[in-house]
Amino acid sequence: MWLAALLGPCHPLPMATAPYASRAPDTLTAAELAEAIQFHNAAYWRHNTPQIPDQVYDQLVERLRSLDPAHPVLDELGAGDTTDDGLTAGDKVVHAVPMLSLGKCYGEAELLHWARQYDGKLIASPKVDGAACSVRYDDSGAFVAAATRGDGVRGESIGHQVALIPNVPAQLPKALVDKWGGAVEVRGEVYLPLTAFDVVSELYANPRNVAAGALKAKEQGAVAATELRLFAYDLLGWETATEAEKVTVLREMGFDPAPAHPCTRDSAQHVYDKISAERGDYDYETDGVVYKMDDIAAQKRLGSTAHHPRWAIAYKFQGDSGDSELIEVQWSLARTGTITPVAIVKPVLLSGAMVSRATLHNLSNVERLALHVGDRLQLTRRGGVIPHVEGNLGGGKDEVAYPPFCPSCGKATEVHTSTRRVSGEDLVTRTLHCTVPAECPQTLRGQLFHYTRVLDIDGFGDKILKQLLSRGLVRDAAGLYALTPSDLNQLERLGPKLAVKLVDNVAARRSVPLARFLVALGIETLGKHAAKLLASKWTLAELRSREVADFSELPGLGQLTAEQIVAGLAAQSALIDRLSMHVTIEAPQQTVTSGVLDGQVVVFTGKLETMNRRDAQHLVVGLGGTAGSSVTKETTLVVVGGDGLTAAKPSSKIKKARKLAESGTGLMLLSEADFQQQYLSESAS
Ligand code: IVH
Repeated sequence: MWLAALLGPCHPLPMATAPYASRAPDTLTAAELAEAIQFHNAAYWRHNTPQIPDQVYDQLVERLRSLDPAHPVLDELGAGDTTDDGLTAGDKVVHAVPMLSLGKCYGEAELLHWARQYDGKLIASPKVDGAACSVRYDDSGAFVAAATRGDGVRGESIGHQVALIPNVPAQLPKALVDKWGGAVEVRGEVYLPLTAFDVVSELYANPRNVAAGALKAKEQGAVAATELRLFAYDLLGWETATEAEKVTVLREMGFDPAPAHPCTRDSAQHVYDKISAERGDYDYETDGVVYKMDDIAAQKRLGSTAHHPRWAIAYKFQGDSGDSELIEVQWSLARTGTITPVAIVKPVLLSGAMVSRATLHNLSNVERLALHVGDRLQLTRRGGVIPHVEGNLGGGKDEVAYPPFCPSCGKATEVHTSTRRVSGEDLVTRTLHCTVPAECPQTLRGQLFHYTRVLDIDGFGDKILKQLLSRGLVRDAAGLYALTPSDLNQLERLGPKLAVKLVDNVAARRSVPLARFLVALGIETLGKHAAKLLASKWTLAELRSREVADFSELPGLGQLTAEQIVAGLAAQSALIDRLSMHVTIEAPQQTVTSGVLDGQVVVFTGKLETMNRRDAQHLVVGLGGTAGSSVTKETTLVVVGGDGLTAAKPSSKIKKARKLAESGTGLMLLSEADFQQQYLSESAS
């Protein structure tokens, strides 16, 4: 009854019962363990229905490892998160064929110059803005491993997440495997559909980062790999004669090929125009059009440079900026009670789509831009999607004033001021707020929506939340836990069955990890990264009595974030008390020190004393972070070896890091000793 007891009666077993479920792992022989592990691998990876908790699975694997370390089952996908190559998630994987980049062009003349090398058919497809990925299948057609592009030569093992992407087949159809024979690799772009991004867009900058993060995550974050999708664009190992045939085979394999548009040199620009005009309707971000020569023999003749194939090119969208006239500024209420300004402009074509609204983020921006109705505004679509106001060319008349009353509840507004030090100067940000957010219906609805999304409580759409609030059935997130089926049954078009289901959905979230609970509170700037950091150091009670100084020293937080978190926790104090009556906060597991660098992008520079560079990078990946080689806007930690931090002539990497740190990207510079002390001593405990 050992495993059976853990499973309990509520776990339906859709497949055959797990072998040896009633015996403890240490009573099983190696052969029995191998059989059980293979069963659970299939349950987890193929059928997507794990039958035992991870810890129990790990015990089976550890027991087999101690009895027979060379047992072949230990090399199979799933065993201790290892792939076919015996790689642990995050380990480096050498690509069989380098994953190259693409040459780029920005106009028809350049495109035609490229296309003149070849006379035949071209295949165009939208350039999807996601993360490149390679997926490998063995000669029986079984999924064996997946990797990121990395530096093109070496990527990272991400099989554990890619196996969860719904349009990545776990097993290729037997007929195809028999027909083509041999192992095969599929390459494609993993992306987060915009409809899925919408739900978390307040928490993350863009869908590409969410997709890349979810692929590398060791555990499920706010976005699960099951939300991701893959557009397949290449096939290696099964040699087709044309790209068009590749598309057909990829589809037969069970993949979604990147949308393919056959064209010729003469119609290439037309296809670009069409994709450019339609891209706003796609459920993914796209930043250009990829053209490939259809004939693979011609591709082979042309070959590749070290950087990109000569037989393909990316024609990038441009014109992501332009200007237009300001018609008015609309003020809309966010769930935090913040009232944010949006510029409504005369429609203008930006990167192929008509734009008539652009965010102004906060009151300070309206004041800095000295907006007047009728002004000409400079607009951009950063990343090709969300329009921003970059500058004001003037020309308008009536000055834009902020509303004295909340656009949702009509109560008074007030201005909040926060200060952050940037480049030695105080940067003041002014934001507009509703004075009584706890009674403002739209804010409440936004908060409830956020709470249910972060905690994955299904079924509470906008319509239901609206009715719950207007009928006084719920006043805040804590009220969700007191709902009964008969409360819900009163709502329009909500039958008894659904009412019971909704109550069950809420009840299933009575126990919540602290980090998630913190994100669910909807405090501005208390996102996933900050929440994990705080939850790894303090309990909820401790957090509520911390001061700004306790938080502002933490990596990646800074003064402004710390202030907002302290103010947010205080403002939500009554809600936290009410929620505490219904929700059990799960203490962080001691063993999850592996996540201390979650979300961090770490770059090492200078000569390290306690470890070599490669080991240090491995360590970062093992602790949940990403090891970067150059300092970029994405970098969050720069660890400096030797006396680099105090050197009279700092290296260019250090100079760049200091500049970024000052500009407020959240980057921190640390000496090797401080890095050891802050992260490694913690993970050793
Ligand atoms: S074909 C040499 N088709 O863009 C690789 N790539 O910037 C041939 N990408 O590494 C790739 N959408 O990851 C191709 N429809 C598409 C694509 C696409 C996005 C990515 C790909 C490549 C990167 C280059």
